[in-house]
Amino acid sequence: MAPVTSGYTRIQIILHWAIALLILFQFVGSEAIEGFVSDIGITTASSSETIPLLVRAHVIAGLLTFALMLARVSMRFLKGAPALPKDEDPKLKMAAHATHGILYLALLLTPISGALAWFGQIELADTAHLVLKTVLILFVGLHIAAALYHQFVLKNGLIKRMMKAG
Ligand code: HEM
Repeated sequence: MAPVTSGYTRIQIILHWAIALLILFQFVGSEAIEGFVSDIGITTASSSETIPLLVRAHVIAGLLTFALMLARVSMRFLKGAPALPKDEDPKLKMAAHATHGILYLALLLTPISGALAWFGQIELADTAHLVLKTVLILFVGLHIAAALYHQFVLKNGLIKRMMKAG
């Protein structure tokens, strides 16, 4: 069991926001790689002689996301995380744990499926990558909505936990 702490560490906070930025970049820039792959097919895309810069950037950002996620998961097990607020509705606590778990899983599996599709030229991995992307969009949306709900409706200052090491 990972330890329960008084707050996230500075490195955990930096990793959270660095990965959030990378994911934003991947969502915004994914049209380039989707267009490129649909034009020439996943089985030849990575061996093409003219790979556009934005397509290369998507692959590199995906590899970086995976590396940062490995560091993040290790820190989560070694350093732990703070407990959710005591007065939080048990149903909301369960939803938060489930959302975080799904986000962790999707953030690991999305780059893995992307790498298998790109470097392994595997069509099934390409399909899985697109499904995982949709899962990520849904759960990142839910996660941001929950953070805003805590901030502006419950007003319990939860966002501070991801801003300042505790
Ligand atoms: C405006 C954007 C975002 C805000 C305001 C935000 C806010 C937060 C806050 C306040 C927490 C701590 C919750 C707690 O202490 O219980 C948290 C945790 C987390 N966030 Fe975000 N987040 C944002 C974007 C993202 C994105 C884009 C991702 C995924 C790429 C993400 C993934 C996670 C995960 C997995 C955790 C759980 C950390 C853990 O307990 O190990 N967040 N976020």
